[in-house]
Amino acid sequence: MKVSPSILTCDFAHMDRAVALCEESGADWLHLDVMDGQFVPNLSFGPPVIASLRPLTDMFFDVHLMMERPDLLVDAFAKAGADLINIHVECDADIDKTLDRIRELGKKAALTIKPNTPAEAVFPYLEKLDMVLIMTVEPGFGGQAFMGDMLPKIRLIKDECARIGHPIEIELDGGVGAANAALCAESGADVVVMGSAVFNAADPKALVSMVQAL
Ligand code: DX5
Ligand code: ZN
Repeated sequence: MKVSPSILTCDFAHMDRAVALCEESGADWLHLDVMDGQFVPNLSFGPPVIASLRPLTDMFFDVHLMMERPDLLVDAFAKAGADLINIHVECDADIDKTLDRIRELGKKAALTIKPNTPAEAVFPYLEKLDMVLIMTVEPGFGGQAFMGDMLPKIRLIKDECARIGHPIEIELDGGVGAANAALCAESGADVVVMGSAVFNAADPKALVSMVQAL
């Protein structure tokens, strides 16, 4: 599996060091959790911060927009250096129009579903997607417990993708670590986000390479 460390749990006074830690861990992507304080009860960072991190690394920027109206800032996130832009299917924006805009900007497009949202909610949009992100925690904070009952959603989405002939990647996000990474791989995940697991690891590189080998 690919590993996409989230810097949400890093020391925001030294985000450059967090990026360096993720890069040195050998991770594949960098997961950037954008929170607007409305869609989720937390506020993190936006395009200016992402733009300041962009020159520090060539890592693929996996930008997770936990926003009511991601459509209002998709262009700004693309300009700031996002490689993949991930919006929530539960948001207030027009999903089709926003996904179309992300692709017009030449970025990969993804939809995220919260724990209470059924897998079928993304079915109408699959042909416009490069990836679906299945939340394995309630969005808003790092360091929460992994929700294993979300895993059957992977198979449901992959089967529908096979039925329509449009394969996509599935990413899991929330509470993933050494204890449950093998279960995530066996359940068919292609990418896992790890925030606190990486930042609390004694040896982030060992953790990342173990998960990449699954
Ligand atoms: C939560 C974020 C996740 C979170 C992951 O709303 O979307 O990306 O930062 O952190 P851990 O791996 O600590 O659950
Ligand atoms: Zn996230």
